[in-house]
Amino acid sequence: MPVDAELRPALLRLRVHEEQRPFVGAIADLLADAESCTGCEPMSILLDGAPIGFYRIETAARCLTGQDFPRPTLGLRSFFIDHRWQGRGMGALALAAILEDMAHRHPAARDVALTVNVRNAAGVALYRRLGFSDTGALYHGGPSGPQHLMVRALPD
Ligand SMILES: CC(C)(COP(=O)(O)OP(=O)(O)OC[C@H]1O[C@@H](n2cnc3c(N)ncnc32)[C@H](O)[C@@H]1OP(=O)(O)O)[C@@H](O)C(=O)NCCC(=O)NCCS
Repeated sequence: MPVDAELRPALLRLRVHEEQRPFVGAIADLLADAESCTGCEPMSILLDGAPIGFYRIETAARCLTGQDFPRPTLGLRSFFIDHRWQGRGMGALALAAILEDMAHRHPAARDVALTVNVRNAAGVALYRRLGFSDTGALYHGGPSGPQHLMVRALPD
């Protein structure tokens, strides 16, 4: 669901494990940044109506790395599951739902791209499991070291 004023207070209580902080910022900063950025849609991951995670859609994946993509491509950014809900299959379920939802929201888009830190074993494993392929390109723009650029087709 798009973030709205009603979801905002509960969203602001979400956080990741301390050791995951290099991979995703604090929710207050992520929200402020997403809300000030055109072409970006801040989204809440809900379980029984309550937020358990966050991500943002970039309507143009060019925003991720500055590079162009051969087909219309969305960007997925700042994806996380709250630390209390991790390790229970929520990340995989959420990502599958996100891909379906992205395809409905943006019917002209064909692919989705993301960057993930090379040290983020959980993130890389999850994205591979959900069908993302490593393009082989390394992005060096983040503050926490190199990131893989991964891409997959959106569901039909
Ligand atoms: C990555 C993240 C979203 C996974 O969420 P989750 O709810 O714990 O994931 P799930 O329980 O659904 O697990 C799905 C898959 O992720 C991978 N995974 C999850 N935790 C893992 C870990 N600690 N080590 C290795 N792989 C892991 C596995 O492939 C797992 O599938 P499996 O259980 O069949 O092996 C979560 O760890 C997170 O929010 N991390 C911090 C933020 C982040 O790194 N986001 C990505 C930024 S690009």
